[in-house]
Amino acid sequence: MQLTPHKRSAVWESTEIPSSMNNEELKTEIARLKREKNAIILAHYYTLPEVQEVADFVGDSLGLARKAAETQADIILFAGVHFMAETAKILNPTRKVLVPDMSAGCSLANSCKAEKLAEFKAKHPDHKVLAYVNCTAAVKAQCDLIVTSGNALKLVNQLPKDEKIIFVPDGNLGDYINRMTGREMLLWDGACCVHDHYEVEDLEKAKAEHPNAIVVAHPECRRELLEKVDFIGSTAAMLNFIGESDAKEFIVVTESGIIYEMQKRNPDKKLYTLYNGAVKHDCVNMKKNNLLNIYAALLEEQPELIMDEELRKKALLPIQRMLELS
Ligand code: 13P
Ligand code: SF4
Repeated sequence: MQLTPHKRSAVWESTEIPSSMNNEELKTEIARLKREKNAIILAHYYTLPEVQEVADFVGDSLGLARKAAETQADIILFAGVHFMAETAKILNPTRKVLVPDMSAGCSLANSCKAEKLAEFKAKHPDHKVLAYVNCTAAVKAQCDLIVTSGNALKLVNQLPKDEKIIFVPDGNLGDYINRMTGREMLLWDGACCVHDHYEVEDLEKAKAEHPNAIVVAHPECRRELLEKVDFIGSTAAMLNFIGESDAKEFIVVTESGIIYEMQKRNPDKKLYTLYNGAVKHDCVNMKKNNLLNIYAALLEEQPELIMDEELRKKALLPIQRMLELS
């Protein structure tokens, strides 16, 4: 299969990659470069199947953060979105962190600007700040503790009951944590452009079409939708749940990239993704990672994620707290 040529940054426009290279050739070259350069590819479950196939580790954000922290590789190529690559750099600063496409951002991370958070904090000086890992390093640097969707409930339950908390940036996840823990955290008004757009009406239609299916959903979805599902959990939790369930059919309410790994682990189970009308829910930023830009990034060791050391040290503290507590 021929790849669509990737729009390349001006910095490395000059390098010649034969336009005729197909996926198999690119995979061979990527494997060679990984060996020669002692590089590791970390990929999120939402990336394209061919990207997951060349990765050394595929995981959710918590798993990827842990892997990034412990790797001895000289180069970490991060196939995910920008804040995830930042987390890798924060945790393992002596490694070169490559990002195949620097424009792969996250709507949720973008919804919480560091300056706005500083203003909000100033209005609530008696509050601790808890941040979902889907935020920028500049936001992490202002926080007391980071959580992921995989450990949020466990970590919040460990905090003193009377602790006043601001939760950023995901309003839906924050609302879910409040309901599950009985807290009244102040919630930032941010949302994921994928999960926030699932409609109850579409879910009802899917349930009518697949009456025996169990519904699993990511806690970034809106409350009215979460109230209609059978299981709520992070990417890894949904994978475990489906693997352990005796049911044979599932409606999966999260980014469709996860289906690749779910189906691989559960070849006998039927998995349905939820559409928004006729539109499939994909994270366009995750899908910016492809074999061509991964190959080019490994070849040229560009684009590299560079981070100010002061910022890195500040952002490290709340992530370290998370890793210790989770
Ligand atoms: P996980 O923490 O489950 O990997 O989710 C990350 C994410 O970006 C969800 O949209
Ligand atoms: Fe961000 Fe949503 Fe994409 Fe996850 S799916 S990376 S939260 S935009």
